Amino acid sequence: MRINIDASELIYPYFVAESFGRKQAIKDFPGVYRLSLSELLRDVEALAPLGLNKILLFGVPKDKSASGDSAYATDSLVARAVRMIKKRFPGIIVFTDVCLCAYMTHGHCGIIQSQVASHKTQVQIDNKKTLDALAKMAVAHAQAGADWVAPSAMAKREVFAVRRALDENGFQKTRILGYSAKFASSFYGPFRNAADSSPKMGDRSGYQLEPADLEAALEEARLDADEGADMVMVKPALAYLDVVRQVKQEVSLPVAAYNVSGEYAFVKYGAARNLWEEKAIVREILTSIKRAGADLIITYHAKDAARWLRGQECPRV
Ligand code: PBG
Repeated sequence: MRINIDASELIYPYFVAESFGRKQAIKDFPGVYRLSLSELLRDVEALAPLGLNKILLFGVPKDKSASGDSAYATDSLVARAVRMIKKRFPGIIVFTDVCLCAYMTHGHCGIIQSQVASHKTQVQIDNKKTLDALAKMAVAHAQAGADWVAPSAMAKREVFAVRRALDENGFQKTRILGYSAKFASSFYGPFRNAADSSPKMGDRSGYQLEPADLEAALEEARLDADEGADMVMVKPALAYLDVVRQVKQEVSLPVAAYNVSGEYAFVKYGAARNLWEEKAIVREILTSIKRAGADLIITYHAKDAARWLRGQECPRV
């Protein structure tokens, strides 16, 4: 059997930042940039001709704070980006990441008690306060026109809290992608450079999943489905293909898999050293993720893969 990938099954992630005068390269993340709003619009314009119609937006704010309040301002970078994109390119389906890590001084995904955090490696988030912030952030994105919001802080009952807030504010049609099975992984390195979101103290193992714990991952996916998610996600993808498969079998929702930044960097650095041919390895990787059961794949390879699917060559970076 041959598995074919279609560009419409891919979601391309973007990092939106304040204008810098030019697109900003990111350390150890070849081919991925932080884009200002105008650069973002120009880039998105090039997607439809490649058959791509889905994007995931991350905000990289200039100012971080202890409360993360710039995350839920109605004129936040992400909200402005969504408005502009939906106005100019209504056919593009916009997903937004709903998490506080890029907005917080300490780099954790939620609001934490700082006195606790300073001497513990396993930082715990204040669930109630974090849920309030995530709900506000999701509503701000929905108001701007996001089609999907993706709560990803791994706070308990975040899908429920976001669904309720969306419904109460008249956004019944905004859908939710739960970052259900999000592991405390080493594969996120380049992303943290991109979002400037490395935890300043401790790590995320207090709220992200332990890599060995398949049962916890399945339970999270089931809970997200019960709480009202419209799609669930497994992240990272490659080291967790068994999780993708099992979630697909056990949860009756579409499943997305996030082919994360570290997985992408492997491919790029290996290709630069001629360890493998980039086009062939990307095809193999995307095929394996789809074979495991993913309905959608979030991947930094999306633009290159879409070009290859059309028989075009890619600029090498
Ligand atoms: C956290 C978040 C992470 C990624 C996206 N959102 C992980 C983390 O920093 O713990 C990683 C995505 C990637 O590596 O491409 N909100």
